[in-house]
Amino acid sequence: MELNNLRTEIDNIDTKLVDLFEKRMQISKSICEYKKENNLAIYNGAREDDLLLKRTNLLADTNLSTFGERFFSGIMEISRDYQTNLSLSKNIVLIGIMGCGKTEKGTQLSKRLNIPFFDVDIEITQAQKMTIPEIFAKHGEDGFRKLESEKIKELSQKTRCIISTGGGVVLNPNNMKVLKEHGIVIFLNRDIDAIAGDIDTSTRPLLANGTDALYKIYNERLALYQKWCDIEISGNTTVSEAVENILCALQKSPL
Ligand code: S3P
Repeated sequence: MELNNLRTEIDNIDTKLVDLFEKRMQISKSICEYKKENNLAIYNGAREDDLLLKRTNLLADTNLSTFGERFFSGIMEISRDYQTNLSLSKNIVLIGIMGCGKTEKGTQLSKRLNIPFFDVDIEITQAQKMTIPEIFAKHGEDGFRKLESEKIKELSQKTRCIISTGGGVVLNPNNMKVLKEHGIVIFLNRDIDAIAGDIDTSTRPLLANGTDALYKIYNERLALYQKWCDIEISGNTTVSEAVENILCALQKSPL
């Protein structure tokens, strides 16, 4: 049947593409080693734009131009993420007020970089077999903060992970010292009115009486988030855009 023949042809092309992909990634790895030795950044926007144009111009069929552009920009993005994966020796630590999207953005970042993801709150709730409101009810905020600091010490011993923290992590300077020792700290700064509009207060004991407390907490902590972070990223974007912005910021200076 003709369809089967066409599919066989596609299979053959994909087999060649896999081979070429592996060869390309191998070269990308060597380039990454060169960049590391020479203290060069992974990302060079002007070079990528130039290459993208050159590659797209190679296409004989102009109807394919936007598809070709997506194909090549995808390959370049994968190559860049691979180089970031290879260069990373530290953790990537996400900080920011509750509701800024640390967990969601951290999960997507871990997929892009193919490195493990840990969420401090999730780790605590799994170890305690209790929800955060239950821990606050049983041990009070102080009890929760102790568990939080212990979990941070434990997770900081890992390397090459994404660590998403609870919003209160900056209250204890020791937390931040251990996290910074082994990690690059990224502050996700999302507009507080937007957070107040969509935050789930039922899982946040500090907001048990409503979102008014959120503004007070934000004002108290903003300077701390800014003091401890290495990079500040806007949280007022889609998850994918924020992840792209984090990656570009990381890739613009040698890791
Ligand atoms: C807290 C934030 C929460 C959680 C706990 C305390 C805070 O984490 O750790 O409810 O002090 O801001 P998220 O920032 O993930 O909501």
